[in-house]
Amino acid sequence: MPALKILVIPGSLRTGSLNAKLAAVAAYQFAQAGAEVTRISLGDFPLPIYDGDLQTKSGVPKNAINLKRMIGAHHGVLIVTPEYNSSVPALVKNTIDWVTRVQDAHETRGQVFRERAFAMAAASESRLGGTRSLAALRLILSACHASVIPSQLALSFADQAYDEMDRLRHPADIDALNALVRQLIDVSQRMM
Ligand SMILES: Cc1cc2nc3c(=O)[nH]c(=O)nc-3n(C[C@H](O)[C@H](O)[C@H](O)COP(=O)(O)O)c2cc1C
Repeated sequence: MPALKILVIPGSLRTGSLNAKLAAVAAYQFAQAGAEVTRISLGDFPLPIYDGDLQTKSGVPKNAINLKRMIGAHHGVLIVTPEYNSSVPALVKNTIDWVTRVQDAHETRGQVFRERAFAMAAASESRLGGTRSLAALRLILSACHASVIPSQLALSFADQAYDEMDRLRHPADIDALNALVRQLIDVSQRMM
């Protein structure tokens, strides 16, 4: 069986991002569990705000095509998203919107979402830990016919959740992330 490949996508570009830290810890746990992990920054795939006129005039931007193909080269995807005003940041939604417009030859539109497993996590300084962002993201991904695993992690009080090495401080958070990691691996393996 080929190595299981997991793609980890943080939904924040901010220096010191609490979500990028969580993505890094998750990537480490996936690697510990035997997966081949790729962790990207959406800063390497800059995209304009979606505009149908732009698509008609210039086609789908190369970065959206590259990102779609990057997703397609992995068996499972973890998105680690901040919560902005009770929903997903524009960065995350806009990226998904563009990726849904990519259709490679011999594929139906959205096939890249339908054929692999997705997981979601969020980190926020608040008590809810980005739960509403996860609800919004689950709705968006489900509308794309993605298989989103039931396990998710909303890391609350995330500004106090990491130690000086940017590792998770609390065993309950480590266990919750581990459960998510194991479930994404299981479901991704079944979908291979
Ligand atoms: C525009 C904006 C809206 C926000 N809205 C929420 C919110 O609804 N719920 C929440 O828990 N935190 C909210 N926050 C706080 C973010 O969760 C916090 O800034 C977090 O650290 C952002 O993620 P990052 O550290 O990965 O960049 C908001 C922040 C910004 C900039």
